[in-house]
Amino acid sequence: MQAHCLRREGRKIPGKFAEAGVPVFAVNVPAVHRVVAIDGPAASGKSSVARELAKQIGFDYVNSGAMYRAVTWHILQHAISPGDGDAIARLLETSRIDGDLDGDGSRISIDGVDPTAHLRDDRVNDEVSLVSSVPRVREILVAKMRAYASNRDIVMEGRDIGSVVFPKTPYKFYIDALPDVRVRRRIAQGQRDKIAARDQADSSRRGSPLVIAEDAHVIDSSNLTIEGVVGEIIDRLKMKGMNIQLRINE
Ligand code: CDP
Repeated sequence: MQAHCLRREGRKIPGKFAEAGVPVFAVNVPAVHRVVAIDGPAASGKSSVARELAKQIGFDYVNSGAMYRAVTWHILQHAISPGDGDAIARLLETSRIDGDLDGDGSRISIDGVDPTAHLRDDRVNDEVSLVSSVPRVREILVAKMRAYASNRDIVMEGRDIGSVVFPKTPYKFYIDALPDVRVRRRIAQGQRDKIAARDQADSSRRGSPLVIAEDAHVIDSSNLTIEGVVGEIIDRLKMKGMNIQLRINE
């Protein structure tokens, strides 16, 4: 069951009903953890939006792309071909992947090394889509993403968060922008990143491709500021009945 759903962790109660053969379960106080899923193509602005949204509504922020980037860096450090799914799966069986949230997003360390400084290296940009298409990589990281939501409210951004990782969350957004706007944004960040190639690879892979979830609210951010997009998401969350206490001045 998804973390954002009502969780009923049953415990058998001894007593007359149980003795009579009737299965009786105590229902723990339901814990409801909310997940806001934000998906979209490369450089659509979703990281800035997701981070700011999380800050304003007091949720934890998780950048799932950073997790795929960390694993890509680890694989490249071990000189394993990003296209060799079997070798990648073998390496991951013996790698210790630890994840945590540090207030400004998820941090991953692999075998005790934190690769944060390398996540935007050119070689990681070039290979991350290929590594992300390896099923074992996705299995391991999706389990960690779901674990993050087991005890807290989160805003998570990525490619398949609304479609695969948390398909039952009612709070799904897809942020897009015109291709030339996205290319300009990435250049302004000082990065060499072949985003069209990444989008093509991410959209056409067999497992968990980049898709617009059926029930996602689509926002074209081409002519919007970050605040504009965040405002639209907050309005939508309120419309859907989310109880939000804004923390604008913190
Ligand atoms: O560069 P940008 O911030 O747009 O991408 P990212 O969120 O850092 O994601 C980097 C890459 O990780 C993507 O191009 C995908 O190949 C992969 N990814 C994925 O497969 N699934 C996710 N939920 C998130 C990222």
